[in-house]
Amino acid sequence: MKDKISKISEELEQLVAESHEQLEQLRIRFLSKKGQIPALFADFRNVAPEQRKEIGLALNTLKQKAAEKITELKNMLDQTNALKSSDTDLTKPAEELNIGSRHPISLVRNRITGIFQNIGFNISDGPEMEDDWHNFSALNFPPEHPARDMQDTFFIEKGKDYSQQVALRTHTSSVQVRVMESSSPPIRTLSPGRVFRNEAISARSHCIFHQVEGLYVDKGVSFADLKQTLYYFAREMFGEETKIRFRPSYFPFTEPSAEMDISCILCKGEGCNVCKYTGWLEIMGCGMVDPTVLKNCGIDPEVYSGYAFGMGIERIAMMLYSVRDIRYFFENDARFLKQFTSAF
Ligand code: DAH
Repeated sequence: MKDKISKISEELEQLVAESHEQLEQLRIRFLSKKGQIPALFADFRNVAPEQRKEIGLALNTLKQKAAEKITELKNMLDQTNALKSSDTDLTKPAEELNIGSRHPISLVRNRITGIFQNIGFNISDGPEMEDDWHNFSALNFPPEHPARDMQDTFFIEKGKDYSQQVALRTHTSSVQVRVMESSSPPIRTLSPGRVFRNEAISARSHCIFHQVEGLYVDKGVSFADLKQTLYYFAREMFGEETKIRFRPSYFPFTEPSAEMDISCILCKGEGCNVCKYTGWLEIMGCGMVDPTVLKNCGIDPEVYSGYAFGMGIERIAMMLYSVRDIRYFFENDARFLKQFTSAF
């Protein structure tokens, strides 16, 4: 009896069924009234009394095992039938994973900050909601300066006098002031960030855009240092053969002030419609930090001098990627955004 039980048990483990008909045959063979297992139960009465307990247990286990095996095979058959009857094509390649990409403005910003980080500049940050002191007064903007006008600045609180006003910062130069107030020279810092101006939105301008501000303050910093650093930057950013030129300009916070142009990255200075046939592209404002600004921020202008520069990221991104309309950067259309995989 024991031998029969273990033989059937082994047989059960090997069972396979390729169709429901085959499975039914198996069920009949093992579990139907005339099947092998009920036959063993019928034989049970011939078992010696002292073996009954052990054999009874083994028989019940065997019966359960057979029932479980039949159910397992049935489930497997049902599953394969379901797959076969559905439209699922298991040989089809998997759907492409949409993993997104960096925003072109982030790509260009990272490239700019990376170039300056390589020569020892750190990154600093300031609030987008700024008081009058950090955005204007400390930077030497006279009270009647047009940039303070309602038309240029988004005011949040319009106090009785300037010192009480709070606005969305109009440039990242405000971070210069914060860094100089909270640390002492040598200072070499880069401040990328979002700025806001009350401008009509068009293909060329937006009320929100991004700038990178640079500041270097130490003993004996000169305009020659500014030129050489920006020359290095221009070549790293736009290519080895890039030329630069400085034009005199005016900013309240720098003296002297300049605009820096680079040779046109498209026509290499030959003249094309991007550079309006001048061969040059305006890239940034810069200059030597005005001694009054140093003093306003608690730095002695008799001991220290510094240079500063500021550039718009959208403008540079538009040149690099030949994007004709600044609004594309803010529309978040994935078809536009996913075209940018690196800054070059
Ligand atoms: N803050 C200026 C702007 O928004 C850009 C700028 C010009 C920054 C000259 C500077 C600078 O640091 O020296 O247009």
